[in-house]
Amino acid sequence: MEYVTLSNGVKMPVLGYGTFTISNEETERCVTDAIHVGYRSIDTAQAYYNEEGVGNAVHKAIEAGTVKREELFLTTKIWVANAGYEKAKASIEESLQKLQTDYIDLLFVHQPYNDYYGTWRAMEEAYKEGKAKAIGVSNFYADRYLDLASFAEIKPMVNQLETHVFQQQKTIRPYLDKFGTQIEAWAPFAKGEKNLFSHPVLTEIGAKYGKNAGQTALRFMIQSGIVVIPKSTHKERMAENLNVFDFVLTEDEMKQIEGMDEGSNIFMDHENPAHIENFFSRFGIM
Ligand SMILES: NC(=O)c1ccc[n+]([C@@H]2O[C@H](COP(=O)([O-])OP(=O)(O)OC[C@H]3O[C@@H](n4cnc5c(N)ncnc54)[C@H](OP(=O)(O)O)[C@@H]3O)[C@@H](O)[C@H]2O)c1
Repeated sequence: MEYVTLSNGVKMPVLGYGTFTISNEETERCVTDAIHVGYRSIDTAQAYYNEEGVGNAVHKAIEAGTVKREELFLTTKIWVANAGYEKAKASIEESLQKLQTDYIDLLFVHQPYNDYYGTWRAMEEAYKEGKAKAIGVSNFYADRYLDLASFAEIKPMVNQLETHVFQQQKTIRPYLDKFGTQIEAWAPFAKGEKNLFSHPVLTEIGAKYGKNAGQTALRFMIQSGIVVIPKSTHKERMAENLNVFDFVLTEDEMKQIEGMDEGSNIFMDHENPAHIENFFSRFGIM
């Protein structure tokens, strides 16, 4: 595994395992498989309702001697309904309990809505108490990101954004660099949209190295300094997605894949009011 060093010195694996849309029951099996094939970083969230499944898998892997807690990197995210200092603080305790751990390696504000300043203060406190080793934001685009990064006492160490070959987040990246914030990609496969797994550019470049389109896409992002957290419920795919550290794309190949960038989100546009209203109603927030 390769690592990036966050602005506070914490080492984060460049490739982790995503658990969005996996039921709590199935998550235990999936995370157990993921640890077994070599993943050490696991991404969950309060809103995925599978923190217990992650906690059970991690607890059992540690008990069995498969891994040590300090070898794992656990990420969770505070949901919009738990926003504000008091609620966020209580929800951090609940997440720790569900994950069966004394500390979360990376704690996010999941979405830039509701009282995220209050949430951030609870996260800063958890960070100072050692309950979170690093804190960050997710889905914070330029306006909200620059606001929080400029005025918060502790600057976000990571911003987890929709990022893939079709949305390379080129506009915000210089600003993330300015505040020492690491970019992390959610949906690094674009959830398979736009035929990513059979895309001719990725397929042709990957073939040279005996890799498929998905592996080529992950390699491109890692080489671009982006942390990735692909999700799969299939053990053989988990292993395949992890097998991206034995080849290096040339400058020309990197440029070709850079050319696939369309510069816009596929799944949610945080600047589109209709998308935001739809998001709130989908999650029963209003
Ligand atoms: N912060 C946020 O708001 C946010 C939002 C979305 C996601 N995330 C995080 O980011 C993680 C990754 O994003 P994502 O799960 O939405 O999408 P993704 O990783 O881009 O794509 C997952 C899809 O790709 C398929 N897949 C995986 N490996 C494959 C392979 N080798 N060959 C063919 N198909 C393959 C999976 O199917 P199978 O499972 O059937 O293999 C699944 O349908 C999430 O799990 C979550 O942890 C965060």
